Amino acid sequence: MTDFNPVKPNNELPFLPPDTSKTETVRILRQENKTIAAIAELKGIANIIPNQSILINAIVLQEAKDSSEIENIITTKDDLYKAVSSTITKLNPATKEVMFYREALYVGFQKIKQRGFLSINDIIEIQKILIQNDAGIRRTPGTALVNDKTNEVIYTPPQNYEAINMLLKNFVEYLNDEESSLVKMAVLHYQFETIHPFYDGNGRTGHIVNILYLILKGYLDIPILYLSSYIIRNKAQYYELLLSVSKDNNWENWILYILSGIEQTAKETIVKIKKIRKLLDSTIETVKTKASKIYSKELVETLFVNPYCKVKFITTSVNVERKAASRYLHQLEEIGILKSYKVGKENIFINVELIELLKE
Ligand SMILES: Nc1ncnc2c1ncn2[C@@H]1O[C@H](COP(=O)(O)OP(=O)(O)OP(=O)(O)O)[C@@H](O)[C@H]1O
Ligand SMILES: [Mg+2]
Repeated sequence: MTDFNPVKPNNELPFLPPDTSKTETVRILRQENKTIAAIAELKGIANIIPNQSILINAIVLQEAKDSSEIENIITTKDDLYKAVSSTITKLNPATKEVMFYREALYVGFQKIKQRGFLSINDIIEIQKILIQNDAGIRRTPGTALVNDKTNEVIYTPPQNYEAINMLLKNFVEYLNDEESSLVKMAVLHYQFETIHPFYDGNGRTGHIVNILYLILKGYLDIPILYLSSYIIRNKAQYYELLLSVSKDNNWENWILYILSGIEQTAKETIVKIKKIRKLLDSTIETVKTKASKIYSKELVETLFVNPYCKVKFITTSVNVERKAASRYLHQLEEIGILKSYKVGKENIFINVELIELLKE
């Protein structure tokens, strides 16, 4: 037992890394091997989809939704895919929140691709996009984690601005050093949530940092690991295990939880990707046989990059005039691939089967 006190600011949170006798137990290393195998398979399988934007769009949006739902924001998946094809000012607050998550993830992804590391400022920028304000790192005391049913304080993060900054500096140094392992991701995620550097959005920022870590260390090429769904399904455990590291130095169960989550999520995503590939193939076949005159690889892929498609998307991807693009879409509707509906004066064409698959 440590002398953990839930209402006392955790100003003495230890720097990383923790003692390896706690984080590299036999059980952990055995699970880590299984998880590495699953994520390696996912990385490879992603390449069966010719256009990576298809996966990024489909999977990031699900991750965005689930991660935001941890905050109890409910918005239907239909609304979301629809939202991607409209302007953000028209969206309801919950949908906006999901769109901001998606944007924050993209911005983080671009940054690490360009520079090969993640800085404190990057993390601040990610959180800023998510929460849409300039508050930045906490300066005013008062932030505590509270049990939303009993209102009881369960954890009080460091309250000293200097201490938070030192901890964050240590956090990014450890994140960016040459060592890479999946155990390290679990350790980093605990540390980030426990520092709790922001007034709000620490959970979501932490989930984005997790995905970026996996890309930074070469476990994945694109942001397609969808861990938030696992965390939602096992949320009570997530909270309990975070707390149990702080209280009892119980790293083993926390790390096993995260490693199992990555393994399970990777496997689910592999199944989904294979289904998307199958649907892509059958759609190509249908267009080739029933509308051979308009078939092109670009045309079909556009329907997968944008499950809610507009004429404008076709004019750019296939490089045809508006009139031809519109005719293509109507013809695809006639052969049963798309279903249209009207928003104002504009027609939106839904890739029905893809949306069904993504909603599963
Ligand atoms: N005992 C704990 N110690 C450290 N961090 C915790 C603990 N319990 C929960 N957390 C983290 O705090 C997050 C909530 O913080 P915050 O509200 O700032 O983030 P958020 O993105 O708005 O989160 P959420 O969507 O979960 O409400 C949780 O998602 C979890 O990651
Ligand atoms: Mg919150």
